[in-house]
Amino acid sequence: PTPGPLAGRHVIVTSGPTHEPIDPVRYIANRSSGRQGSAIASALVRRGARVTFVTGPAEAPRPEGATIVEIETAREMLEAVDAALPADAAVFAAAVADWYVEGAGASKLKKDGTGTPPGLVLRENPDILRTIATRSEGRPGLVVGFAAETDDVVANATAKRLRKGADWIVANDVRPSTGIMGGTENAAILVTAEGAEPWPRMSKDATADALADRIARALT
Ligand code: C5P
Repeated sequence: PTPGPLAGRHVIVTSGPTHEPIDPVRYIANRSSGRQGSAIASALVRRGARVTFVTGPAEAPRPEGATIVEIETAREMLEAVDAALPADAAVFAAAVADWYVEGAGASKLKKDGTGTPPGLVLRENPDILRTIATRSEGRPGLVVGFAAETDDVVANATAKRLRKGADWIVANDVRPSTGIMGGTENAAILVTAEGAEPWPRMSKDATADALADRIARALT
């Protein structure tokens, strides 16, 4: 294995948006660039971890040295994470769509000529973080989730940590005035069982290094 504090450790990282098809040519998506997830995977590789990087269709470069698993939908992302287990840690940085379109099939939807649009039926996607974190068998020893919040960041992230069964939540203030969403910098608050630890505003690469160092400390 590659030398480093995480040598011999397996870490799964989810990243990017998911695409939820409406029909063969259309989909529902979100604006996640996948940048923070890629940076975290690279930082873990540099520390010697074996990294499985499960990514939706994101623009960010794929992390070198990681095993890349490209998926489209949230349901495929859960399957890929499942297939990649067991792991020592899992970092759920993906911006997973909350809903998929029921019955999206092989035929392109057409206008019916009467001016009545098709009624899309949305169904809730599996919560990948919660599914893995609350599992009684095969749960990674350290489960890290993310929370993008616009208000009461610490209170909401603390509640999310408990609701999802995560060990840590990396919380971000994504109010447009912060420029964090879609930008190159982050100002994170690490929420653990011990409390909330605000990190200085820094590049997403530096945020990834800080998180990877914490993961290395927790696993050694
Ligand atoms: O509930 P919310 O989407 O705010 O939670 C964010 C966290 O949960 C992120 O870590 C995200 O990757 C994860 N998540 C997930 N599957 C979902 C929704 C969110 O893994 N369906």
